[in-house]
Amino acid sequence: MDPVSPPLASFPPARADTVLHHARLAAQGIRVRAGTIEDMAFIRQLYGDLRAEELHQTGWPDAVKRAFLDSQFALQHRHFVTYYADADFLMVEHDGVTIGRFYLLRAAPYFLVVDIALVPGWRGRGIGHALMDWAKEQARAVGAAGIDLHVDERNAGARRLYARIGFVETAREGVYIAMRWQTAAQA
Ligand SMILES: CC(C)(COP(=O)(O)OP(=O)(O)OC[C@H]1O[C@@H](n2cnc3c(N)ncnc32)[C@H](O)[C@@H]1OP(=O)(O)O)[C@@H](O)C(=O)NCCC(=O)NCCS
Repeated sequence: MDPVSPPLASFPPARADTVLHHARLAAQGIRVRAGTIEDMAFIRQLYGDLRAEELHQTGWPDAVKRAFLDSQFALQHRHFVTYYADADFLMVEHDGVTIGRFYLLRAAPYFLVVDIALVPGWRGRGIGHALMDWAKEQARAVGAAGIDLHVDERNAGARRLYARIGFVETAREGVYIAMRWQTAAQA
């Protein structure tokens, strides 16, 4: 990282009312906990891995790609902790090893999934589905109207998952698709 870059801010203090237990996740050996400054290296790497393919196409030297990713990661992180300061910034763990992140803003009337991402080896095992079910349960518990999220139109896998669990497209914003699940929906 650029040595003159300002240090990254940690996450806002965890909310006192954050629910950390979900039976189906626990049954899969998955634990969820609040993120800390110690998690920055992990989430920077996760972010970099998610953008690796796109950057591969640039043909840039590795050092340039790394610097670009680090600056983009810093911007994203700053944006999240500034604009969604009241969100739950959760880390997903298996056997004490961090395998993903789940950032959920419990806003009214609609919750917002700020980010959900798992490391490649843990995808496709039902964890994302279970995390979203957990968010739905929390939305129902507090009488929220539903949950919003945004997904890149090129992210066919994630779009398929969201459609399967009852999210419907509500708008297009550039390459992003806004999707919404309503508490009153069946799925
Ligand atoms: C999207 C994501 C969080 C879903 O969690 P998951 O635990 O992999 O999903 P589940 O196992 O519960 O459900 C499987 C579904 O997830 C979707 N999926 C998306 N990307 C996937 C991947 N790389 N591997 C496997 N499944 C993926 C598919 O729809 C899959 O269903 P399918 O069998 O019909 O293809 C996870 O795959 C991930 O981290 N992907 C990369 C980051 C990302 O795209 N985040 C979403 C931003 S909006």
